[in-house]
Amino acid sequence: MRITLPDLCYEEVLDLQKVIDSGWLTKGPYVEEFERMVKDYMGVKYAIAVSSGTAALHLALISLNISSGDEVIVPDFTFVATANAVEYTGAKPVFADIDLKTFNIDPEDIRRKITSKTKAIMPVHGFGQSADMDEIRKIAHEHNLFIIEDAACAMGAEYKGEFCGVMGDLGCFSLHPRKILTTAEGGIVVTNNDEHAKLIERLRDHGSIKKDGRVYFNHCGYNYRLSELHAVLGIAQMKKLNDIIKKRQKAAKELSALLSGIASLRLPEISENCQHIFQAYVVLLNQEVDRSKFMSYLKSKDIETVVGNYALHSQPFYKNKYKYTPGDVSNSFIAGEKSVVLPLYPQMTEEEINLLAKTVKSAL
Ligand SMILES: Cc1ncc(COP(=O)(O)O)c(C=O)c1O
Repeated sequence: MRITLPDLCYEEVLDLQKVIDSGWLTKGPYVEEFERMVKDYMGVKYAIAVSSGTAALHLALISLNISSGDEVIVPDFTFVATANAVEYTGAKPVFADIDLKTFNIDPEDIRRKITSKTKAIMPVHGFGQSADMDEIRKIAHEHNLFIIEDAACAMGAEYKGEFCGVMGDLGCFSLHPRKILTTAEGGIVVTNNDEHAKLIERLRDHGSIKKDGRVYFNHCGYNYRLSELHAVLGIAQMKKLNDIIKKRQKAAKELSALLSGIASLRLPEISENCQHIFQAYVVLLNQEVDRSKFMSYLKSKDIETVVGNYALHSQPFYKNKYKYTPGDVSNSFIAGEKSVVLPLYPQMTEEEINLLAKTVKSAL
């Protein structure tokens, strides 16, 4: 089969070739410029670009000195990278249940999961909507815990006028192609803390530090740098960010209007005080609906869907290692079985939205 890429892709690749030819990649201005744009956008002191959202989480955890013997509370319903980053440090990810209305971590369950070993809470702003940060900050304050926001999907999302990613000690974004803003692969950590920022900057580049014209390696760091070429994409994307968000929000609103009132389908809810950016449009099917059949039907009509996310307690690695059961996180179990991502993208036409809604209705 011959795959034809849209012309636009060729043009962008050609533009990147110009960047390579210019010789600027070795001088390194693009990562710095991209970081400056993110900092200005969010009004935060530091933005440190790294090679992935997972690397961002890993470095954020290390900067807080989280290690073996510690526990970090994460939502059970999330991409596996959230928990894996905790595992990398030797600490234990403790899974908390979610609220089925928002798919975000349930603060009441965070309270239940706190032990003397808990060091941090890592809320995920699921699918582009903020977790309940007032409650989470209250709990963190009461128990003297750090907050690392997994804002992988939430670049530009807001909670009571504050950007996701800048409400805790550190915020981590993914720049993977399925995210709001992409550099093809990449991530970024934001923080207002001088010490954490300096350590992360060093650790992303093998732990190196420059002093008196020489380079020293004070830590055993990582190769977690974002490449200059990827940063070029980030700069171009940052200029479009608000427009991308507006288009996604408009498409989501139209789709929700067309799908409302179907008894077997729970639509994404926008919480009070939240600016949901709809990185993904995720619906929840009722218990009686067979998700595989629903997804196969849409596929037969050329409509691609994926499962909403993963209930991590039931993934073999975590199930075998920590012996979690569905009873520990019952809402996440339901979401893991019954959630579906419907297609939604900025260029979506009214005709495509109508067709999607019509096909979902006929599937149900
Ligand atoms: C909630 C969440 N956290 C972390 C990540 C990891 O990001 P990356 O794929 O850039 O490593 C993802 C990626 O999908 C994610 O959805």
